[in-house]
Amino acid sequence: MQISVIGAGYVGLTTAACLAEVGHHVLCADSDLDKLKKLTAGRLPFFEPHLDSLVKRNTTAGRLQFTSPTEAIEKGSAIFICVGTPPLENGEADLSAIESVARTIASTARGYRLVIEKSTVPVQTAKRLWKHLSIYNVNALEFDVVSNPEFLREGSAVGDFFHPDRIVIGAESSRAIAMMKEIYRPVLTSPSACPVHSQCPPARDIPLIVTDTNSAELVKHASNSFLAMKISFINLVADACEAAGADIVKVAEGIGSDKRIGQSFLNPGIGFGGFCFPKDLQAFVRIGEKLGCDFSLLKEVEKINLRRAEQFVAKVKKELWVLRGKSIAVWGLAFKPDTDDVRFAPALNIVRRLLAEGASIRAYDPQAMQKAKDELPEITYCLSQYEAAQQADAILVLTEWDEFRHVDWDILAKTVAHPLLIDGRNMYSADQVVAKGFQYVGIGKEPQVVQFAPLRTGGDRLPCPPVPGSGVSPVAPASSRAIPAQSQP
Ligand code: UGA
Repeated sequence: MQISVIGAGYVGLTTAACLAEVGHHVLCADSDLDKLKKLTAGRLPFFEPHLDSLVKRNTTAGRLQFTSPTEAIEKGSAIFICVGTPPLENGEADLSAIESVARTIASTARGYRLVIEKSTVPVQTAKRLWKHLSIYNVNALEFDVVSNPEFLREGSAVGDFFHPDRIVIGAESSRAIAMMKEIYRPVLTSPSACPVHSQCPPARDIPLIVTDTNSAELVKHASNSFLAMKISFINLVADACEAAGADIVKVAEGIGSDKRIGQSFLNPGIGFGGFCFPKDLQAFVRIGEKLGCDFSLLKEVEKINLRRAEQFVAKVKKELWVLRGKSIAVWGLAFKPDTDDVRFAPALNIVRRLLAEGASIRAYDPQAMQKAKDELPEITYCLSQYEAAQQADAILVLTEWDEFRHVDWDILAKTVAHPLLIDGRNMYSADQVVAKGFQYVGIGKEPQVVQFAPLRTGGDRLPCPPVPGSGVSPVAPASSRAIPAQSQP
């Protein structure tokens, strides 16, 4: 089947490359000519693990080509609409790009077209699309409109395409359902043939949920809002843990062991970000208002999330007292690991607040620095986490990149001005960090202070007095630090 994908962003390009990988012929289109040129030359506009090789392999094999939206609409019998639906000022999704694609289809296509809405859109958009296509139809075009929400996560989108939890098809004609089944047949029938894993997860039946278009559209917004709610919930519980002296890691394990709840999306932190949850949550609240439903639950989810950056900066201030003139190392800028995406990244929000308080920032992120520079030109970008930590008064961990798990603590201890690690993602165990001579502050846990051993050369070192209001003792500067008991010979 000749498939066209309109929009070469995170969703469109991944969908196009994966559909080509399973054997379809795919035309991927974008109205940005510069992006098209770069894609044709093999340069991707963003980082997504495995996508680069997938695009190369399939363009070389002739299954994937890049072109203009008009050509893609003329040639594709199934057209995936994957254009952006950014938030308007009032939180509603801006559907102008979708409307524009619909008008081009109605005015240029001939014969039959399956129009597949993959962009995240408010409920009833497929119905509007259908009406719009009918109104602007000039060539007696026959068409169906299908809603096929995507559930790809940035950073693992290729794997998610090949191993979906479910495929949702909102369609109202048997021809449309049959075509959609044909498109996804390779994924449904051979889920283990995947370009990501050397050994794929065990094969299982992938639920194919066929429903009406309104229901399919609601599945998408409700799924993202539910996951966002789970995160805000665990963040609330983390606050309670800090206040009561409990450990959120154990509490989350205890909650998530209930199969009805599940372990995933119970990691507390600096709040959810990215281009999906914050905007989809807002859009869903607006949808609720329009439908006359009380979605105040979701407004609270949003409020809790907006407070996370402020609360994290308060943690930093509690430890450093005054931020003006302090040098702060920031590890991680992307909204999550394995992506270079900094849209609505909580890390950027935190950095802006620290700058406003007069701190200077040295940041490192394995992939997102180029994109962060456009938004935050005023900070120092470093080539490694160690370079960022040079003479730092504190290290803040804001994205849980895998490479941050492998720290040479001895080098780090010699690099910083003050051994304080504030872990916004609970990447480390307090014991591990304290054993290396660092003070540790996580999320939903009590802060941990290094217990100094007696100096070997002189008299006993007395523990420093507690800082009023912080509940913890400061650690002596790295230069004068004693060797922690655990690392003494
Ligand atoms: C999300 C959904 O997970 C996808 O299913 C959906 O297709 C996608 O949005 C979309 O609508 O396009 P994504 O935004 O790529 O995917 O990333 P997630 O892994 O869901 O993480 C979102 C945010 O939540 C990140 O900032 C992450 O750090 C945060 N998060 C996630 C937590 O703070 N705690 C958690 O336990 C999990």
